[in-house]
Amino acid sequence: MRTLILNISKLCNTETPSESAARRSGIAMTHLPCLDNAWLLIENRIIHSFGLMSDLPEMHADETIDATGRLVLPAWVDSHTHLVFAAPRDGEFVDRIKGVSYEEIARKGGGILNSAKRLNDMDESELYDQSLARLNAVMATGTGAIEIKSGYGLCLEGELKMLRVIRKLRENAPIPIKATFLAAHAYPVEYKQDKEGYINLIIDEMLPRVASEGLADYMDVFCEEGFFDVPDTERLLDAAAKFGLRPKIHANQLQYSGGVQVGVLHRALSVDHLECVGYAEILALLGSTTIPTLLPGAAFFLGMHYQPARKMIDAGLPVCLASDYNPGSCPSGNISLLLTIACTQLRMTPEEAVNAVTINGAAALGLHNELGTIKAGKKANLILTRKIPSLAYIPYDYGNNNIERLIV
Ligand code: NIG
Ligand code: FE
Repeated sequence: MRTLILNISKLCNTETPSESAARRSGIAMTHLPCLDNAWLLIENRIIHSFGLMSDLPEMHADETIDATGRLVLPAWVDSHTHLVFAAPRDGEFVDRIKGVSYEEIARKGGGILNSAKRLNDMDESELYDQSLARLNAVMATGTGAIEIKSGYGLCLEGELKMLRVIRKLRENAPIPIKATFLAAHAYPVEYKQDKEGYINLIIDEMLPRVASEGLADYMDVFCEEGFFDVPDTERLLDAAAKFGLRPKIHANQLQYSGGVQVGVLHRALSVDHLECVGYAEILALLGSTTIPTLLPGAAFFLGMHYQPARKMIDAGLPVCLASDYNPGSCPSGNISLLLTIACTQLRMTPEEAVNAVTINGAAALGLHNELGTIKAGKKANLILTRKIPSLAYIPYDYGNNNIERLIV
């Protein structure tokens, strides 16, 4: 099957066969290679070739798409979500407006524990149906690959249920899905006085089972004071490494938790959140292959200060952006809106922000050889926009969906 897209006003984030950037870092993030007035040929779901309309060769195609006035981009890669959950937490949203903090809500048994109760009460098929509806909704706004975490089970059966739902989504959805095991997200009520006991349960019972059933690609820990501290995180990541699970961890959302450094030491694929980042964290990241992933949607929704993206990019880091889609701190998986927040609040340029959710998102999921840029041989997971004047128009026209179609 060959699909030819013609008259693309701008084909964004192109790479020639000789280039092989696994990520874009620092100043390179300001550059988004594009072709104006271009064509692109897809053969059997793979990008076959592309070029300028002025050099369009004679070729046969089974289907032709006229993209006049439209942009084509690599689909968004959302490398951090909690898309499988049982119920919204709009009541807590109102409590926060009235002055109760996110941490206080968590201490009183709301927050993640609220989500865990609802999830453990729900049967697997209903959880799947709800999650599939959310997945379809984010695909309609341009997400063409996604990571989904467990972490609302907080017991063996609940965590397995979540991971099985993710596996079923992966089997049925047309986009790549990576699964991350996040039992170390919070302490369940019955282990409140026995934190050691819960960590042992994760290490001795959950991890072996998750690994033997092949249910997870990555291991996550919420490394934060009051949740899992650095020594806890080290134990958990060492145990995960024995099962070949590389870390992608929650770090430095609420404090300077040491999470960035412990992630780097354990060769984490990414460290995510990073509201609290100073020079020590930047230095640790500079000497590593760990991708710093910013989740400003959560900072926006919780009314917290934003991640220092400028400082990080100017220091030469490969900054990634992801949604953090979850019922508590960011009930939106809309990447166009995330781009608006990144541009207006983190002062990233549209080009930097698009690099952060395409090539660097792919790197944060180990998918950079298949996705993230327009390159011959990569998967043709593409965004076709509506008729819009420029790339900058996507974050500019905030709250509106300018994605006409996700091609997968
Ligand atoms: O990434 N911070 C930890 N986990 C999620 C939120 C979980 C929740 O509130 O349900 C996050 O923000
Ligand atoms: Fe998260």
